[in-house]
Amino acid sequence: MPLDQVPVGLVIGSPAHELFGGPESQFATLDALAEATRSCQLCGLHRTAKQAVPGHGNPHADLVCVGEAPGSNEDEQGLPFVGPAGQLLTKILGAIDLSREDVFICNVLKHRPPGNRNPLPDEVAACSPYLVRQIALLKPAVIVALGTFAAQTLLQSKEPIGKLRGKIHRYYGVPLIATYHPAALLRNPSWKRPTWEDVQLARRLLDRARSA
Ligand code: URA
Repeated sequence: MPLDQVPVGLVIGSPAHELFGGPESQFATLDALAEATRSCQLCGLHRTAKQAVPGHGNPHADLVCVGEAPGSNEDEQGLPFVGPAGQLLTKILGAIDLSREDVFICNVLKHRPPGNRNPLPDEVAACSPYLVRQIALLKPAVIVALGTFAAQTLLQSKEPIGKLRGKIHRYYGVPLIATYHPAALLRNPSWKRPTWEDVQLARRLLDRARSA
């Protein structure tokens, strides 16, 4: 399907101000932001997590992947998506000709919720400015939201992932593709096909941005 016929999704923010060059410019670099997450006590998760998992990857990435929150492997290593879901994410990226070195990967929450429980609203509220600022600093050409939680948080929506996927949303002007979380794919292999279509769409948007 030609890109201009893909259904238009939700539009969050305006391209010009609030996010890029806007007032949330407290952290000048990704490293400064990562350092701040390591001593962050804005919610209770720092008490139970072993360490912060700020995000990792190419600071010049055109593509940013956003997941939910660190799990136990990530909590141990301080790096996002390093467990089984992360290995699948590496393969998914490989399928669209990207390596982990090409992209930047982060999560909505920077500390692991105990027992991998769902993030709580106050934790999301406390942690969101870090994600917003990361995206502002990275200025990606495309964002891929991995799973219900990242998609619903970024898009400020309660729609299920099945409804949010397959569209080109706009996050402060940046095309945002929502797709299934790799951990969900491990449980539901039938979602591999739609995920493949979603990442192909992200790839085409990336190619279009690069050739513009
Ligand atoms: N699941 C996520 O959402 N993020 C990670 O970093 C690992 C697993």
